[in-house]
Parts: sequence; C-alpha cells; structure tokens
Amino acid sequence: MAIRSIVQVGDDVLRQKCFPVEAFDEKLHALLEDMKETVKKEEGAGLAAPQVGILRRVVVVDVDNGYFEFINPVLLDYKGEQTGWEGCLSVRGKSGIVSRPMKVTLSYQDRFGEKHLLKAKGFFARAICHELDHLDGVLYIDKATHIERN
Ligand code: CO
Repeated sequence: MAIRSIVQVGDDVLRQKCFPVEAFDEKLHALLEDMKETVKKEEGAGLAAPQVGILRRVVVVDVDNGYFEFINPVLLDYKGEQTGWEGCLSVRGKSGIVSRPMKVTLSYQDRFGEKHLLKAKGFFARAICHELDHLDGVLYIDKATHIERN
C-alpha cells in the first residue's frame, strides 16, 4: 500500500470523463488500497480515482456511515435538497456552499465486480454526489454559490 499524491485544481486530469472499470483485478485492488490509505491519512470524506491521476470510474467514501468503495457507480434516483459547506482534497484551502440532493439511490459494483444498490441520505449522500461528479470532470467549485478561503 502507498499514499498517493493528490492532483490539484488546474490539472487537466481533473476535467476528463473517466472510463468504466472492466477488469476487477489485482491492479484495481491495489488502487483501492492506496485510495483508502490516502483518504484516511488526508482525513477526507472521499476520493475519486482521477484525483490520484487514474481516469477510471472508481470512488471511495469515508464518512460516519463507514468506508465504502464504489466501482462504476450510477446515480439512479435522487430526492430533496440540502445546502451546505463542502471541500475537496484537490482544492486545498477553500470551502464552498453547494446544493445537493438530500437522498440518493446508487447502483455500483464492488471490487470483485458484484452489483449492489445503496440508498444514502444527508452528508453521506452529499459525499457520494461530490465524488461521482469527479468521474465526469466536475468539481464542487463549478456548482458552489459561495466560496471562502479556510
Ligand atoms: Co473532491
């Protein structure tokens, strides 16, 4: 396992659309282990593969509900709205106010390729939406109504 360095805003890799994962192999598992170690060390709520320079549809989320790995995640449904502060490990020293759905339903695959459905709400739903945006080259600063330096 290794801590990976996190790409910062301004790097074009954060603006690309990521490719689906097709091989659920040791290379994917190594990436996930590294992303887990990195998000925990950085005390982030989540991390997406493009943030470590990998253009694949892989995210990890680490919130009060626990640590989750989502491969090829798809937002199937969303309800309600929440407005609150958000930050990003690729946008150091800033936070912003972003509106997100209050509840989401997600389909995804685990590291072995098994398909799952998940319902999330509150901050967990916010973290999922933030990380999924990364897979399509979208950053929270694109959606924020207000941004402040920390
Ligand atoms: Co982010």
